[in-house]
Amino acid sequence: MAQRYVMAIDQGTTSTRCILFDQNARLVSVVQREHRQYHPRPGWVEQDAVEIWRNVDRIMPQALRDAGVGAEQVAALGITNQRETAVVWDRHTGVPVGRAIVWEDIRTEELVGELTARPESSGIRERCGLPLATYFSAPKLRWLLDNTPGLRERAERGDVLFGTMDTWLIWNLTGGVSGGLHVTDVTNASRTMLMNLTTQSWDDELLSFFDIPARILPEIRASTEIHGRTTRVVPGVTISAALGDQHAALFGQTCFAKGETKCTYGTGSFLLMNTGDTLVKSEHGLLTTIGYQLGGEPATYALEGSIAVTGSLVQWFRDKLGLIQSAPEIETLARTVTDNGGCYIVPAFSGLFAPHWHSEARGIIVGLTSYISKGHLARAVLEATAWQTREVVDAMTAESGVPSKALKVDGGMTADHLLMQTIADVLDVPVLRPMVAETVSLGAAYAAGLAVGYWPDLEGLRRNWHLAARWNPQWNAADRDAEYANWKRAVELTFGWAKP
Ligand code: G3P
Repeated sequence: MAQRYVMAIDQGTTSTRCILFDQNARLVSVVQREHRQYHPRPGWVEQDAVEIWRNVDRIMPQALRDAGVGAEQVAALGITNQRETAVVWDRHTGVPVGRAIVWEDIRTEELVGELTARPESSGIRERCGLPLATYFSAPKLRWLLDNTPGLRERAERGDVLFGTMDTWLIWNLTGGVSGGLHVTDVTNASRTMLMNLTTQSWDDELLSFFDIPARILPEIRASTEIHGRTTRVVPGVTISAALGDQHAALFGQTCFAKGETKCTYGTGSFLLMNTGDTLVKSEHGLLTTIGYQLGGEPATYALEGSIAVTGSLVQWFRDKLGLIQSAPEIETLARTVTDNGGCYIVPAFSGLFAPHWHSEARGIIVGLTSYISKGHLARAVLEATAWQTREVVDAMTAESGVPSKALKVDGGMTADHLLMQTIADVLDVPVLRPMVAETVSLGAAYAAGLAVGYWPDLEGLRRNWHLAARWNPQWNAADRDAEYANWKRAVELTFGWAKP
C-alpha cells in the first residue's frame, strides 16, 4: 500500500502554509504564500479573505505535487489559524462584506471603552476568561455590524455568516455556497469573547452584551472531529481537526500534561501553559483559554500570556525604517554592538497585551543619545521580545506558584540565536527548541492524525519530540535586574499615551 501522510494548513497572520508530514513527524513538503496587509488608518489592520482562500487553492495542490503524493495518500487534514481575526461573508455568494479585521487592529478602542463603562462588563471575564480588549473577535464583529450599511439586517435574516479563518477555510473547502460547513472549534471560539468557557457553547448573556445575533455564528465543535471531506481544491480529503495556531503549537510541542508550557515566536508571541481540567482564573493579566479538546473528551484548559508585537517589530524595522533588507539580518546588525547602549524600544503598536492590557498604550523608543547606532536599535528590537517574554513568564509564575525550569520555544524567530540567547539570559532558565520548529503545523497534523488513527495515542507523539538546540543563561543577576528595571520604566512611559 502506498505510504500515507497528514496535511496541515497553517493560516497565519502574514502567510499561509501547507505542510505534509509523515508518520515520524518529518516534513515531506512545505509550500508557503504571503498575503497582503492593509493599514488604511493608524491602528487599523485588514486582510483580504478571498486572497487567503486563493492562496490555499494554490498551496494545497502544490504541496502534493512537490512530494509526488496523490490526494488518496492524505490520511487527514488539520487546519490551524491566526485567531480572533474576524470575517463576515454572504452565504449565497461567498463574497466577504469587507476586508477581515485582523487581531492586531485597534479600531474598536472607543467601543471597548464604552462597553467597559457598562456595569454588566464586570461579569464578562468570568464567563469567557478574557479581559475586554480590542484583540478579541466580538468587538470586531460588533464594529462590522455597526459600520457596514444593512449588515445587521442581513445578519438577522441569516444571509451572512461570521467566522475566524478556520471557519472561512472549512466553509470554502467543504463546498462554499453549495452547502459548505459553517463550523469552528472550541479553541477558536474561546477567543471570540462570545463562548462560555465552562459550557463551551455560545453564551446568551455575552451575545446580548455585545449585541451579536446568534444566527451569524458557526457551530462549535471539538478540536479533533471528523468534519467531512473537502469537495474543492483537492477533493476527497478528510478534515479531522481545526484549532487556533497557539493551541496547535501547545499540542505540537506535546505539552499534554498539566504545567507544561511553550512559547511560539511569530508575528506576536504567545506563551501557553496546560492547566489540565482546571479552569484557572487569572489574577496576573493572563488569559484563560481552551488548550484543546479531543473528540468527545472533556476540554483541556490553558493559561496564556499573549504578546502582540515581536516578529512584526522586526518587519517594521525592515519595511518601515528600512534599516535591514531581510528579517534575519537583524541578528547580524545587533551583533555589531555588544549591548543596547541604553536604548529601549517598547512596541505597543496595538496597545499592550499581557500582562498589562492597556489598549491606549503606544510604542516608544527611549534612551536616545548621539551614541546610539542602528546596531543598538537592532539590539533593542530583539531585547523587546525577550523582556516581553520575561513579563509573561513572571505572570505565569505568580499565577501557578511554580517557577519555570526551562522554556520550550518554536516559531520563525527561534532561528535567531542572539534572540534565543537573550531570552535565556533575561529569564535565567535554559531555552529549548525541538527538531521541528514548525510546531503550529505539526500540532494541527497531530490532532488530525489522532482523529483518524494515523497516530495511535499521545504517548506515541511525545516520542517524536527531539531536542535540536539549547541556550543556557549567561548573564549575572545584577545586570539582569538592572536591565529589567530599565525595561519596566520604559513600559510605564507608554501607558495612556493615546489618551492625554
Ligand atoms: O492571536 C493571534 C495569533 O493567533 C497570531 O499568531 O503566529 O500568526 O502571529 P501568528
